[in-house]
Amino acid sequence: MNSEAPLLTQFKEKIRQRTATVGVVGLGYVGLPFAVEKAKVGFHVIGIEQNPARTAKINAAENYIPDVEDEALQQLVQSGRLRAVENFTAIPDLDVVVICVPTPLTQNLTPNLSYVESVTQQIAEHLKPGQLVTLESTTYPGTTDEVMGPLLEGISGLRQGKDFFLAHSPERVDPGNKRYTTKNTNKVVGASDPDSLEAAMLFYSQTIDHVVPVTSAKAAELVKVFENTFRAVNIALVNELAMLCDRLGIDVWEVLDAANTKPFGMMPFYPGPGVGGHCIPIDPHYLEWKAKEYNFETHFIALAGEINRRMPEFVTDKIWRILNRVGVAPSKSQVLLLGVAYKKDLGDCRESPAIALIERLTQDGVNLIYHDPFVSEIEVNGEQLNSISLTDELLQAVDLVVITTDHSQLDYGNVVKQAQAVLDTRGVTRHLNCDKDKVTLL
Ligand SMILES: NC(=O)c1ccc[n+]([C@@H]2O[C@H](COP(=O)([O-])OP(=O)(O)OC[C@H]3O[C@@H](n4cnc5c(N)ncnc54)[C@H](O)[C@@H]3O)[C@@H](O)[C@H]2O)c1
Repeated sequence: MNSEAPLLTQFKEKIRQRTATVGVVGLGYVGLPFAVEKAKVGFHVIGIEQNPARTAKINAAENYIPDVEDEALQQLVQSGRLRAVENFTAIPDLDVVVICVPTPLTQNLTPNLSYVESVTQQIAEHLKPGQLVTLESTTYPGTTDEVMGPLLEGISGLRQGKDFFLAHSPERVDPGNKRYTTKNTNKVVGASDPDSLEAAMLFYSQTIDHVVPVTSAKAAELVKVFENTFRAVNIALVNELAMLCDRLGIDVWEVLDAANTKPFGMMPFYPGPGVGGHCIPIDPHYLEWKAKEYNFETHFIALAGEINRRMPEFVTDKIWRILNRVGVAPSKSQVLLLGVAYKKDLGDCRESPAIALIERLTQDGVNLIYHDPFVSEIEVNGEQLNSISLTDELLQAVDLVVITTDHSQLDYGNVVKQAQAVLDTRGVTRHLNCDKDKVTLL
């Protein structure tokens, strides 16, 4: 005898038949690619996005996220399979609601869950039996069960696992990565009741090759923050090594290249001017905060954050030393930053270490300019800076060029050829046939 709950049976049928309507709340770096993937396999998708400029763009089939193909978006919008709205009145028409809103930190490095709480409340006001709600945003263990569950149940009067399904599936997108896309990146799914887990597993497996179940939403939340903590700690380790090598007069890049020849027990991580983006500088602090509730100190997280945040200061110190060597006072110098995005080949400047560098250098009176092929303008402390065209004349005129982002399209050989002095914080000039005397590596 089939003892499966009728609501689960109906839900599974709609997913298998692709007749389900999927709502995606927050159409940013995570939400828009997600919405497009789901629409491509046949689901009707409604994006709920509070930013009217973004909603208008989607409905006009205009893309604003690099990982999304323009033609795919156009085709899906024109065929009516994907559209965007600004409010939550569409919730009753949905079978699945996926939340992809920001989870930033407050000024005191504590979680700011206001986006998740606000959208959960608005979903709860319209929640209907048989719906699946999943959270994709990165957060501390307990958010889905302790924050979202009570809000959904309290406001709607419905019961999780009985009337509606609730799960957490952390997004693992690596913006700009062509090899690992949403489809071929394993996806972890966790829920705290079996029917929610089954509903979410089936939904995610429609577009993802391999879905990995865990037995609670908390475990899924911890998987994601642990992954980003792992990166933050290992990046901090090589950043610390870079600072030590600077004292020892040893080339850190040579040491890492040699260490990475070990075929087991090593994994490559590289130093840089600091960490940026929406994940590495932020997510570990979500875990650190939660651990404090249990009177537990996460020493690795605190230390990694401290070391990574120190890197712009270390880079500034190197800049002073180079300017001193070439005989130019910082307040009389002109320095060109190559790249302000936090990661190569992207235009994302969130938490970018280049911003901390700009703040420090301009405070000390440096005449600072930048070039970034992906970022035409940037605002730092209320001041707007515009990307300057990269010409040989410009490279020759400045006192120092600092390579802050390793964008692939720049000709670093020519940069070294034209410039008077170069500080390479990303190691892009190491294997070039160029005048190495002009280059200082991090
Ligand atoms: N960007 C990444 O590479 C990445 C990777 C993995 C996980 N994540 C996580 O995914 C989550 C989303 O990140 P993102 O980079 O997509 O952020 P984003 O800022 O690019 O997009 C979030 C979108 O949500 C919208 N939004 C905010 N409040 C809303 C509301 N009340 N109603 C409707 N829309 C609202 C914003 O306008 C924005 O368009 C975060 O938790 C982040 O940590 C991001």
